[in-house]
Parts: sequence; C-alpha cells; structure tokens
Amino acid sequence: MNATSQKNRLYYGDCLTIMQGMEAASVDLIYLDPPFNSKRDYNAIYKDETGLPLPDQIENFRDIWKMDVERVNAVRNLPVLMREHGIDDRAAEFCRLYMEALDKTQPAMLAYLSYMAERLIMMRGLLKSTGSIYLHCDPTASHYLKIIMDVIFGQGNFLNEIIWSYRTGGVSKRWFGRKHDVLLYYARSKGSHVFHVHKERSYSTSAPPGFKEIKKHQDEHGRWYTMASMRDVWELNAIGRSSKERLGYATQKPLVLLERIIQASSNEGDLVLDPFCGCATTIEAAHRLSRHWIGIDIAIHAVKRVSRLRLTERLRLAAGKDYRIEGIPLTLEGAQDLWERDKYHFQKWAVEQTDGFVTGKRTADGGIDGRIYFASKLGDKTLSSMILEVKGGKNVGIDVVRNLRAAMDREKAPMAGLILLHDLGERKLDNFRREMGAAGSLEVNGINYARIQLLTVADILDGRKFKTPGRVAGQSATQFSAPVSTPLDK
Ligand SMILES: C[S@@+](CC[C@H](N)C(=O)[O-])C[C@H]1O[C@@H](n2cnc3c(N)ncnc32)[C@H](O)[C@@H]1O
Repeated sequence: MNATSQKNRLYYGDCLTIMQGMEAASVDLIYLDPPFNSKRDYNAIYKDETGLPLPDQIENFRDIWKMDVERVNAVRNLPVLMREHGIDDRAAEFCRLYMEALDKTQPAMLAYLSYMAERLIMMRGLLKSTGSIYLHCDPTASHYLKIIMDVIFGQGNFLNEIIWSYRTGGVSKRWFGRKHDVLLYYARSKGSHVFHVHKERSYSTSAPPGFKEIKKHQDEHGRWYTMASMRDVWELNAIGRSSKERLGYATQKPLVLLERIIQASSNEGDLVLDPFCGCATTIEAAHRLSRHWIGIDIAIHAVKRVSRLRLTERLRLAAGKDYRIEGIPLTLEGAQDLWERDKYHFQKWAVEQTDGFVTGKRTADGGIDGRIYFASKLGDKTLSSMILEVKGGKNVGIDVVRNLRAAMDREKAPMAGLILLHDLGERKLDNFRREMGAAGSLEVNGINYARIQLLTVADILDGRKFKTPGRVAGQSATQFSAPVSTPLDK
C-alpha cells in the first residue's frame, strides 16, 4: 500500500494485519484508544430482541485477557520483533525481563500488554520522523503501558502524560470519583516533531494589570483571564446521555478532544491514523480539520455504522468517491480472496454476516467459530444458541456435519449452522441434507426449525440468514441498542 492509495480509508480488520500492509514512515499522527484492561462488561451494548444482554463471548470489546497459546507465542516473539524493527537491544532485553516478571505475577496484564506491544511496534514503523503518537488509556493499565511506550518509542521521546478529566458517570462512596483518562504522548523523534502551541484561558480573581480595558480578556460572566500556553490537564466534557454528538457507541470520545490533539500535532494535508477507530471520532475531527485519515476497527458493526452515521449522514461523504471501506467482501471473489489472505478474518466476517458473535480464536483451537443467540421461550431469561462452523476449504467431507452434531451435544446447543465458502455440488449436497435432516427439528411457539442448517457464502452475500427462533427469515435478531454513556461509570 503506498501513501497515496492509503488515504481516507476505513478498514474492517485487526489493526495488526492492516498495519503490516501499510507503507513505512507514511503517517504524521497516530491516536489510539484501544480496549482498556478493565474487565468491564462492554458486551451489554448488544441486545437481542428479548432485551437481554448477550453473553460475553462477543469479539468486539473482548476486554478479558488470558495467556493462551497465541499470547504465549507473542510474548516469546516480542524481543525478536523489537530487534527486527530497530529497537535498541537493551530495551528489548528490558522488555523481556519485564514480561517474565509479569508472567509470574499478573498473567492477564501480560496478555494485554503483549497484544498492545505487537501493535505499538507496527505503529512506530508507520510514523514519519516528524510524527507523534497519543495512546489513550486509563489508570487501570496506564503505568504498565508507559513502560511499554518507553521501550518502543524511547524514554527520550516521551512528551506528556495528559490527564483528561470529566464529570459524567457515577461515583463511588468508597473512594474518590475516578474521573480521568490518561493520554501518553510520544514523538517519533523528539525535537523533529510537529507541535503547534495551544492557548487556554487562565482565570484570575481581579483584572490583571494592563488588561482592564481589553474586553476580549473578560468572559461572558465578567471574569478576567489571560491567555496562557495549554497545560497537560484538560477538563473537557465526555459524551453524556444528552450529548448532541452521541452516536450510541459505548466508548465514543468527544470531538473536541480529538480536534485539540490533531491541531496540536499535525498540519493540514497530513495523514492521521486511528487503528482502533470505534465510531470514528478521529476521522470526523481529521476531516473537519482538512487532514487525510485512515481508520481501522475489528468490529463490523463499528465499520458499518460509522460509514452510515458519521461519514455519510454527518459529513456528507460518499463511499467509493470520497473514501473507501476495505476488508468487507461484497462478492464471492472478494470472500475467496479474504480466505486466502486471512483465514481467521474470513471466519469472523462470515459469522458476523449471519448476525452471529465470534467465539473462535485466531489460533486453531478446534472449537466452534461463533454463535447466534436467541430466546427459545418468550420471557426466557437464559438465551439458547445456534453454534456456527465456518469452512473455507474446497473439500468439505460429511464428517463436518457429524462433528457438528457432537459439538451440539457437548455445548448443549439446540441448533447448529454450517457456513461453506464453496458450493458442494448436487450429489454431495444431497448427502449433507440427509445427514443434517437426521438431527431433526426444534419446535418453538408452534414453528419448526431445522436443528442443523447450511448456508453458502453466495447465500450470505444474497442476504440470507439462518432461521432461528426470535428472528424472521432474513432479518437481524441482534440490534444495536442504545448503550451506556461514555466513559462508563468507573
Ligand atoms: C475504546 S473503542 C474506540 C472508541 C473511539 N475512540 C471512538 O471515539 O469511538 C476501541 C475500539 O477498538 C476496536 N478494536 C479492538 N481490538 C481491535 C483490533 N485488534 N484492531 C482494530 N480494532 C480493534 C473495538 O472494536 C472498538 O471499537
């Protein structure tokens, strides 16, 4: 991807994979607001028609960290990755020891930090020598992340720890209200970095000498102020329930925060990257300030909603003309191409197209790939699910259906759905139908649903869905509901 072709793009995918394909030293400013290590249940943002929150297997906002095989390998490879990216040997060795200590004491934190480190190393490679990066986090992990930032970007390139304080959300009766986030601000190369000084009002109780007659230094309430260079403590309103900006995305950040960052650390025409772009606050701010932009998000809901609400309706931008969405296959060839490039991402896309939630991992774990949740009885508080299996290979054998039946027993799931990239051909399809039919049907409210169903990717691209209780054929059972305000109560 060269620098021109990558401008004004919205990518659906893991930012790690997308960034691997981007041109080195091509980005002027990176702002990232990754999922925090907070164990908070973000999943409540999705509800089904029953109004019940869905269980926590949902991939986006998967905010719970474990040292699984993927993370163990990532930790092992980190020092090598650092050396490959030109990070100082001593820093890489320090990082190895840091990770070793965390492994014994805080494995969940280690899983989170190793995930972040892999991606931050990529970001370092993408920044121009004049560029800078703002990592948005909170006190749960900011102190651990700062060590990782020091290792990757160099302690000498640290510029500020910005405190963003706000007043929204609840407060505890057992400690002081936790009402701030932390932004770790680093230059790619301190001294060469772009920085435009911002001014803020500094209030005084009486008129400062010499300012008495100058009306512009008296605010609408008659209070006197002077203009001073901005400090690293920013008091800005968060997106509350009644905020006009609110798009219904649980962790949406205010535009004014992003505008301040973009104005301070970039010039018109520069390229701004947000690798965890959510509902695209950074993109809107960058666009309004005449910067080019790239946004990446792993959640298809974010990418689709973003394009509709933020870019099309609010900014009046046309997809395909003013910007492009990448990574969502629209044709069978596109889906095949995705399978060739990234098998896990293909599975994730297929599951999400059927309104399912991803449960499978990037590393082959032999488990199921996703689930569609539904209530089998009206008012039932426990949700049932259809387990999903995605197969992208050409030679799918009948044992896939047999394995699915075994998985239904194991998972106590009343239904299963099989998604195939390739058509089976008439004869094989007949065999599959017979084997699937033997699993029988599920009766809910007088309607029978085949317990095992099959869809091909061509079906999915035609808009067909699995038939499960709580959904009319072809219509989504999962809806984006009005979620909690942001930042969430701490
Ligand atoms: C805290 S939210 C960002 C909110 C955003 N700043 C806004 O104002 O809307 C974090 C986002 O990161 C996305 N995400 C999580 N892991 C990701 C990954 N590996 N690659 C890309 N996006 C990811 C989530 O889907 C979520 O939308």
